[in-house]
Amino acid sequence: MIICKTRKEISAAVANIRKQGRSLGFIPTMGALHQGHISLVKKSIEENDCTAVSIFVNPTQFNNQNDLKTYPRTIDADIALLESVGADIAFIPTVDVMYPEGLENVTESYDFGPIGQVMEGIARPGHFNGVGIVVHRLFELVPADRAYFGMKDFQQIAIIKEMVRQRDIHIEIIPCPIVREEDGMALSSRNIRLSEEQRKQAVQISQTLFKAQELAKTASVAEVQTFVETTVNSVPLLSVEYFSIVNAHTMQPVTSWDETDWVVGCITVNVGDVRLIDNITLKK
Ligand code: PAF
Repeated sequence: MIICKTRKEISAAVANIRKQGRSLGFIPTMGALHQGHISLVKKSIEENDCTAVSIFVNPTQFNNQNDLKTYPRTIDADIALLESVGADIAFIPTVDVMYPEGLENVTESYDFGPIGQVMEGIARPGHFNGVGIVVHRLFELVPADRAYFGMKDFQQIAIIKEMVRQRDIHIEIIPCPIVREEDGMALSSRNIRLSEEQRKQAVQISQTLFKAQELAKTASVAEVQTFVETTVNSVPLLSVEYFSIVNAHTMQPVTSWDETDWVVGCITVNVGDVRLIDNITLKK
């Protein structure tokens, strides 16, 4: 596996692949890699001649400085894991490489329209602008054929698809299923920050979503909404920040199952100072 740290190194590595006429898959990550990320890497390896993975904890997408400071960083283990599954390139830039103008001089600004004005767009002001900026810059440096993103960040995929549309970027965005622990808990880099007791209780997030999926077959949208909020909030260490039942194409809330062919329930829960997100299809 080639490790690239500078713009020159990554551009040369990509140019070399292109010169040989080989296809390229790309997985942008913030590191602290787990089997969810690895499922994306494996899919890319299946579908492309070469696979590049970036590891960069992007400061411009953190609206909370404590969240940025405490975001897990496990770079040596990440490199070993990528090597073991057969990734071809790891791009590990510093903040200076990604933002040579200095963070205070970053000026790009996105308007993602209604998809950016709900859920994480409200809860984390500026977050999606930072995601748009960094993914655009990464796509410029790694002009892959396909890029792979986990569906745990359901709204983020819609945002990235919209960014790619607005900037006329010819990279296919491939959404990939959420990977869960055996007990149902969605894999997340943030899970390692949970205490044993928090982790034990946090499983109720996914367990409640699974029950909600069943309930959605017979109950109304409002009933499912109340069920999820009440059940998760009744777990002592869990506090629901929001649970939104949305049209999966537009991210806008629905009030009836008949409004669209695909409805998803998206949840954000605070477990101490760890913020966890998850989602589940309620109708498709
Ligand atoms: O999903 C993530 O890990 C990040 O938001 C991403 C897409 C790598 C951009 O920093």
